[in-house]
Amino acid sequence: MQHRTMESYKIQLVAIVSLILVFPNTQGWGEDGHFIVCKIAQSRLSNSAAEAVKNLLPESAQNDLASLCLWPDEIKRDARYRWSATLHFADTPDSLCNFQYDSKSPYSFILMHSASNDPSGALSELGKTTQQFRDCKDLSTGEKGQCVVGAINNYTNQLLNYGSVTKYNLTEALLFLSHFVGDIHQPLHCGFVSDLGGNRVAVNWYNTVRNLHRVWDDDIIETAEERFYDSNRTEYINAIQQNITKAWADQVKGWENCSPNKIPCPDIYASESIEEACQWAYKGVSVNSNLQDEYFLTRLPIVTLRLAQGGVRLAATLNRIFGTQYSAAM
Ligand SMILES: *[C@@H]1O[C@H](CO)[C@@H](O)[C@H](O)[C@H]1NC(C)=O
Ligand SMILES: *[C@@H]1O[C@H](CO)[C@@H](O)[C@H](O)[C@H]1NC(C)=O
Ligand SMILES: *[C@@H]1O[C@H](CO)[C@@H](O)[C@H](O)[C@H]1NC(C)=O
Ligand SMILES: *[C@@H]1O[C@H](CO)[C@@H](O)[C@H](O)[C@H]1NC(C)=O
Repeated sequence: MQHRTMESYKIQLVAIVSLILVFPNTQGWGEDGHFIVCKIAQSRLSNSAAEAVKNLLPESAQNDLASLCLWPDEIKRDARYRWSATLHFADTPDSLCNFQYDSKSPYSFILMHSASNDPSGALSELGKTTQQFRDCKDLSTGEKGQCVVGAINNYTNQLLNYGSVTKYNLTEALLFLSHFVGDIHQPLHCGFVSDLGGNRVAVNWYNTVRNLHRVWDDDIIETAEERFYDSNRTEYINAIQQNITKAWADQVKGWENCSPNKIPCPDIYASESIEEACQWAYKGVSVNSNLQDEYFLTRLPIVTLRLAQGGVRLAATLNRIFGTQYSAAM
């Protein structure tokens, strides 16, 4: 590696690390996105999964999973739950457009050799912990598995204890799993690490100041509801459900599929998301781009598809978790 490149990598890296420390990542679909994913999912549950979900939800939810799917966003800044903030996303190195759970970090070499720029030693410490793992880790501590992919595996495993004595709070496990299966389908949730999945990309959305991440969390969905569905979320959900049973009927089995013997397949969902982030979310966007009809109308089908896939896959995962073949094996 040439010295000039090394030097600019170092500077970039210091900048990235400072950004991460200063700006906590706010990631994931907004309120409507999570609601839609969970509504679709609950309508597709097997009898045994529907029964388990009903038992795990607090009485106050009146058996409506969607009403609590935003809970992990509401609590992630509370001192008691701050550990969960890193579990909402899995950002990847800039411009590579693929997800790798734990391959070697391209930054590890630089981190290990940045002592002269790092009088406090904090970066070298970070380098030691992050060098093995690329995309699924806590960005500030480097701890492996602390990302949305690890979290989906974690809460699936906890829920497999349903019906037996367990130290885990399975109500929380259900709400985390339902939220994170939604989050992982938001393409910018697996966006680039340097801009925090688009959070640091300032844009104009029909002349209103936004960031790109927020456009994908909320604005595309809300604009669609206003323009095409009479500002009625239920109408949008019904239209998606229609397409799951008709236009996409041939693809749904493929969405539900997971490698044999696996219950969730979050690596697949994260890989799809970063590809779509590159192909659609970031494409043609630069700082202060003015995003209007051309962007909205070409990206809306992707957003709708991801909501549909999130709902279908959450149901498939819960059906596998609470299906007799798996619980019998426990
Ligand atoms: C797994 O769940 C426990 C809480 O039950 C939590 O402390 C831990 O951080 C979680 N890890 C991941 C990767 O989700
Ligand atoms: C499980 O978590 C929920 C949500 O945080 C909480 O309301 C409930 O009291 C917890 N249950 C137990 C047994 O701790
Ligand atoms: C929204 O649409 C649903 C389904 O068509 C309908 O039942 C409901 O009354 C509508 N809500 C409002 C506020 O118009
Ligand atoms: C449903 O599918 C039709 C035909 O492909 C498409 O025109 C429409 O936009 C889709 N609607 C939704 C909500 O996905």
